Amino acid sequence: MSFGRMPIANAFLRGKAEFATEYFYELKPALCPACKCFQIVEIPRPEQMFHDHYAYFASTSSVMSRHFAAMAQDLMARYLTGPDPFVTEIGSNDGITLQNFAKAGLRHLGIEPSANVADAARARGVATLSAFFGVETATSIVAEHGNADLFIATNTMHHIEDINAVAAGVAILLKPSGVMIQEDPYLGDMVEDCAYDQVYAEHMYIWSITALNNAFGRHGLEVFHVEHNHHHGGCMRYHLGRKGFRPPSPELNAALAKEQSLGLDRPDTYDRFKARCEESRDRLMALIDGYKRQGKRVVGYGATAKSATVINWCGITPDHLDWISDSTPAKQNTFSPGAHIPVVAPERFRAEPPDAAVLFAWNHFNEIDAKERSWRDAGGKWILPVRKVEAI
Ligand code: SAH
Ligand code: TYD
Repeated sequence: MSFGRMPIANAFLRGKAEFATEYFYELKPALCPACKCFQIVEIPRPEQMFHDHYAYFASTSSVMSRHFAAMAQDLMARYLTGPDPFVTEIGSNDGITLQNFAKAGLRHLGIEPSANVADAARARGVATLSAFFGVETATSIVAEHGNADLFIATNTMHHIEDINAVAAGVAILLKPSGVMIQEDPYLGDMVEDCAYDQVYAEHMYIWSITALNNAFGRHGLEVFHVEHNHHHGGCMRYHLGRKGFRPPSPELNAALAKEQSLGLDRPDTYDRFKARCEESRDRLMALIDGYKRQGKRVVGYGATAKSATVINWCGITPDHLDWISDSTPAKQNTFSPGAHIPVVAPERFRAEPPDAAVLFAWNHFNEIDAKERSWRDAGGKWILPVRKVEAI
């Protein structure tokens, strides 16, 4: 399947001068018949995506901050009861998760290549190495700090093309009893809900238990437990350890059976997914066009990375949306990648309330809807762009 020509999802443009040199690739997802991994075929170089002006600051969402604080408490109780534990994390970003281990006084190290977010983490007291994780980094961390009890990767393992380098690095870094925690948007949810906006260059893999076991199995690691949650539209938290070290949990066996029944390893599942994506696109454009024909003002809410796929695939332009409001300072006063829709601060939303707003940050619905209650009470409508496409 192809979603067509795509810009880098988080590459907001700082001025019109940058339009001419904007980078595009073709967004083509596919299922690997051998390892059953859902992945994109053409992948931009990592330096084009992760750099010193990376736009995603994880702590922007208070809900996610609380979610990762709860995760940290749970992991401390489950796995870090021994003497002087050492916690590592890749994609540690602005320190959203590791700050909880730092506050508890535990030895920790974040590995984060995007320099600006790594600085934000250091300002929070989180020890952070600016690097791309792989065998070399793992080896030097072991030499300096010893082996790790815990290795965390939330919303990061779908960003890294060379998964073998990460898996080999994890095998080097962890103690024999060590545990890896991975959490990211789950393929089963994406397929069931037709949430195709999870697919973009930074999300080059959408993981399933089956695919993860195939990838990490090559390096002596396996999934022994899973937990499902509703963040980011449906995430799976995978607990991995050395093969045979811990027995598979009943939750893992149940989730594997569900994967089978969803047909996540079968090509025909994705033929149906493609047809549903096309229906979803047509329905969204009909909704937006309906408002525009009545002369109503429509904007976007949340300049998410996900929105790049929706906007550029569906053909949404500045004629459809006047602007997109976003609370991230680094995204404000820029232009959205590809379609070049102006991105503005949320104050604009209050000053010029629109008739309808496409909620690209649909995964934060409760948090945002509570914030904009008075606008909705006065007749404003959210247009939900994927899953159940509707105006509410
Ligand atoms: N863990 C946070 C942030 C996820 S964003 C959360 O769950 O919200 C993904 C992060 O992974 C980005 O900050 C990006 O810079 C980082 N990243 C990308 N490639 C990486 C690599 N090879 N090693 C370590 N971090 C990487
Ligand atoms: P998010 O959905 O977390 O991630 P992704 O970019 O990976 O798709 O991004 C949420 C975006 O929405 C982020 O740019 C901040 C913005 N936002 C608001 O503008 N207001 C809010 O109240 C919240 C929670 C987020």
